[in-house]
Amino acid sequence: MPTILHVVGARPNFMKAAPVYFAFRHHPSVRQVLVHTGQHYDRKMSDVFFDELGLPEPDHNLGVGSGSHAVQTAEIMVRFEKVVLAEKPDVVIVYGDVNSTIAAALVAAKLGIRVAHVEAGLRSRDLTMPEEINRILTDRITDWFFTPSSDGDDNLRAEAVTPDRVFMVGNCMIDTLVRLLDKAKRPALAGLAERYALVTLHRPSNVDEPVMLAKIMEAMDKISADLQVVFPIHPRTRQRLAGTRWAIPDSSGRLLLCEPLGYLDFLGLQRHAQVVLTDSGGIQEETTYLRVPCLTLRENTERPVTCEIGTNQLIGRDMDRAHQEVGRVLRGETRRGEIPPLWDGKSGERIAQIIVDKLAGLDATVGN
Ligand code: UD1
Repeated sequence: MPTILHVVGARPNFMKAAPVYFAFRHHPSVRQVLVHTGQHYDRKMSDVFFDELGLPEPDHNLGVGSGSHAVQTAEIMVRFEKVVLAEKPDVVIVYGDVNSTIAAALVAAKLGIRVAHVEAGLRSRDLTMPEEINRILTDRITDWFFTPSSDGDDNLRAEAVTPDRVFMVGNCMIDTLVRLLDKAKRPALAGLAERYALVTLHRPSNVDEPVMLAKIMEAMDKISADLQVVFPIHPRTRQRLAGTRWAIPDSSGRLLLCEPLGYLDFLGLQRHAQVVLTDSGGIQEETTYLRVPCLTLRENTERPVTCEIGTNQLIGRDMDRAHQEVGRVLRGETRRGEIPPLWDGKSGERIAQIIVDKLAGLDATVGN
């Protein structure tokens, strides 16, 4: 019986892996192993997602925790190699672009095990982003590429990947959204106004530089004069805000700072927001699906489809422009956008079917 080994590590991996994992349950001919690297480990960054998404306890938790990029990546590799040697998978499936993705792909490829990459082919062309390095390198050693949109296929073709290994399957993160949207209600967050802007920020380019972070927070203060700003704070950002005047929540509630939220509460907040300001990748996609205006505080995006046909707009780091764009949204000058092809809740099923068929094909070849 072939073994499929899934590797997850950081928050955005969990909602991508869940639909693929569940889809394989309909294929009793395969055995599944779930590995959590422990890159994210707080209850609010990890456990709550397993609970809400219905994922089982991982079969292995590598418990690597935080560290520099080198320490984190190396530690995952050392611990993951032992799991791979013990479990002997036929395919290792990696998700997205986090450090766990490249670390696991490297280990598998060097042990001669097939790598399947979910969310392959995305490119921001910005090598200052750790994720871009992870994307490019993972795709260099991937065997089967599962892309969420046709720009992924185009990028892979331009990098000389043969088309027989590339499968445009749609967006797995949207599978999870489609499955759970009915359960995502407006959360019971103390002080939450009827109308609000939702903010998330954690990219090193925005939060690691104190001058930039102060500029962003001042802009949030200004925006909050027109519209309440709700800001669930990622641990990286919280560390950077410690010691600044934003470490303490504003008592008027106009700028509502809170802990990171679980999947359902955050989805509930997103769907009811007037506008979302973010530097996340996944949130650009979720807002496009939900048709909520999204202002992305980055110079580039690896998800151009969200700008071309969705509700996303790249704002860069010009915070005056961000403020003006919020004004336009409040005046109703927004675009409803379209949902990209195959973002239909069935991507996980497509991936499982393709992998099962591929494995059966390989078996037949060996048998001959
Ligand atoms: C990682 C991913 C990023 C993804 C983000 C989603 C990489 C290179 N980056 O960034 O692509 O968008 O996850 O959240 O893989 N921390 C905690 N508790 C946790 C996890 C982290 O307190 O459960 C703190 C640690 O002090 C750590 C810091 O947050 O140093 C950053 O965590 P890390 O995993 O290094 O990167 P993220 O910024 O979360």
